[in-house]
Amino acid sequence: MKMHRFEEIWLVLAVAVIVISMVLTGYQTFALGMGPPSNKETIDPQKVDETAPFDEPGVYEIGENEYEVVMTLQIFSFNPGDIEIPAGSTVHFTMTSKDVIHGFQVPGTNLNAMVMPGHIQKISQTFDEPGEYLVLCNEYCGTGHQQMGMTITVK
Ligand code: CUA
Repeated sequence: MKMHRFEEIWLVLAVAVIVISMVLTGYQTFALGMGPPSNKETIDPQKVDETAPFDEPGVYEIGENEYEVVMTLQIFSFNPGDIEIPAGSTVHFTMTSKDVIHGFQVPGTNLNAMVMPGHIQKISQTFDEPGEYLVLCNEYCGTGHQQMGMTITVK
């Protein structure tokens, strides 16, 4: 088969772009653990307070350097509020909303999730660096939206 020189170059470039994209996406997914939160459990948003585990929101130690944070979001707060965990811990957040759509974002980490009424959101993060991490609601949820925040203290 006879191919024009430019055709060959473009063919190689096109295949290279596809391969590079796949490698990058794979690296982000498997090496960096980046990916959209994809938990698919549902809950009756009217009965959050009576439904386990949300009947007892809080921070639970579930293993060595491993914690679960059971959290409800409502206008305009997080429950539990400010939390504290030891450095090097992996924290699994289990969250749901009691009213409208809220956001859960921790700048400087991979934590960024939409928390919707009727759905249970799960997202994990390892906190190696000590410090104060600001948690923000990044979905407009009403007049007090800009005040909806909390801190995670890692020490
Ligand atoms: Cu909750 Cu904005």
